[in-house]
Amino acid sequence: MSAPAIAARHISPETYRAVMRHLPTGVAAVCSTDPVSGTQNGMIVGTFASLSMEPALVTFSVMHSSTSWPRIAEAGVFSISLLAQEQQPVCRALSAKGEDKLDAVNWSESVWGTPHIHGSLAWFDCRVEQQFTAGDHIVVIASVLDMTSGEGTPLIFHGGRFGSFREAA
Ligand SMILES: Cc1cc2nc3c(=O)[nH]c(=O)nc-3n(C[C@H](O)[C@H](O)[C@H](O)COP(=O)(O)O)c2cc1C
Repeated sequence: MSAPAIAARHISPETYRAVMRHLPTGVAAVCSTDPVSGTQNGMIVGTFASLSMEPALVTFSVMHSSTSWPRIAEAGVFSISLLAQEQQPVCRALSAKGEDKLDAVNWSESVWGTPHIHGSLAWFDCRVEQQFTAGDHIVVIASVLDMTSGEGTPLIFHGGRFGSFREAA
């Protein structure tokens, strides 16, 4: 079947945001420790998703303008902590611009040398497999070196607000 002869309309960033706000997302903290300075870097992503079971792969995307991602990736191994509903303060701390964001957060070092944020629902230790540019973002595909489950209810971002999961009636 041939494509219909209709020109795609230009989608402005405002339209894109206004429509995409209907999509609820989880909230994940992507962190690593700089092997030279020993300091931590971290950022929040709402684009974290499962990708492949065998091999175990996950994905997320980062804005080109992110200053944290290049520093996180430089460490080689990084962690993903999937945030629980009580962890909105963690989200606030790690989505801010600046240095030493993990100073305001309780975390401990994993066997991989990565920061695992206390109270999270799950922890992943990952290595970058592929990165490629897609529009104004970089798509990251990472292999999972280890993954562990915690307990709790997810923090969910929807319509510009934070909430949690409630079972439908
Ligand atoms: C709920 C939420 C979801 C976000 N999702 C993403 C994302 O998927 N990709 C991204 O690059 N930034 C995302 N951000 C923004 C970054 O966490 C953060 O603001 C930014 O990385 C901080 O700037 P820096 O990277 O220069 O330190 C999100 C922020 C929030 C609050």
